[in-house]
Amino acid sequence: MLAYRHAFHAGNHGDVLKHLVLGEVLHHMAEKAKPYSVLDTHAGAGGYSLEGRYAGKKGEFEGGVASLWNAQANGRTAWPEAIGRYLQLVRDFNGGPGAKLSQYPGSPAIAQALMRPGDPLHLYEMHPTDERILRAFLGARPHTQVHLCDGFASLTRELPPPSRRGVVLMDPSYELKSDYGKVVAAVREIMTRFVQAVVIVWYPLVQLVEAVQLPKRLRSAAAAAPKGWLDAQLTVQAADARGFGMMGSGVLVINPPHPVHGMLRECLPVLADHLSQIEQPKWVLDAGLK
Ligand SMILES: C[S@@+](CC[C@H](N)C(=O)[O-])C[C@H]1O[C@@H](n2cnc3c(N)ncnc32)[C@H](O)[C@@H]1O
Repeated sequence: MLAYRHAFHAGNHGDVLKHLVLGEVLHHMAEKAKPYSVLDTHAGAGGYSLEGRYAGKKGEFEGGVASLWNAQANGRTAWPEAIGRYLQLVRDFNGGPGAKLSQYPGSPAIAQALMRPGDPLHLYEMHPTDERILRAFLGARPHTQVHLCDGFASLTRELPPPSRRGVVLMDPSYELKSDYGKVVAAVREIMTRFVQAVVIVWYPLVQLVEAVQLPKRLRSAAAAAPKGWLDAQLTVQAADARGFGMMGSGVLVINPPHPVHGMLRECLPVLADHLSQIEQPKWVLDAGLK
């Protein structure tokens, strides 16, 4: 049984980076009338309370979504458009204008908010409790399937989607070291089956050889993508004295919609500024666009 529960981490700096990118990708996918599918291979519970004992245990959201939310509440309104849209999504999930920050939308909730009713959504989650919560939350959405099974294995069944337009979000917990190899193999598989897929892979920045090698391996697996890739990293925390702990995270976007590059260039310094818990936060944006 997997021990990881995303409820402990919901709304942290990693979620902010990942969900900003996911929101912008889906925003641009909806600019064409033709339907598109989303495969969320590691979906989690869908949405999270920030007031319960899980999120409250370490308060990770305080250094994540709450930093942006509080800056806005304290008068900052001049955000890059994409950060404004992200905050709007979070506000809507909390009930709209004047709401207090008490809940956080996971990737399925963001997909639900931005996809059109006819766009198919496939959600995979292996933890039975989170899968049950997810099914209760989104199981009734039209054209939506919630699966209690291995999201990596779903790719061979579901790709390419009938519409030949699709987004794959791969957001493993990396609780098992084998996830590092599996996510690279999954990108290779996607490139074989559906090379036009827009693929978003989130990964942690931790001091582990598998994690350090991952960005290079992912880029190389993405080499066949007709529009290339973007790789954004944000370092906002220090590891502990023994070298443990997540220092930040990265997002690789394969075949990114054109505006995502400029969006990241504009937003990464703002995120580094607001989410940093260290004196010298760092952001990196590498591009292998074609
Ligand atoms: C980082 S969380 C997902 C968070 C979610 N994508 C979001 O952004 O809101 C990773 C999830 O993957 C689940 N999981 C782990 N291995 C899996 C697998 N092979 N297939 C599907 N889900 C898996 C875990 O139970 C956990 O809920």
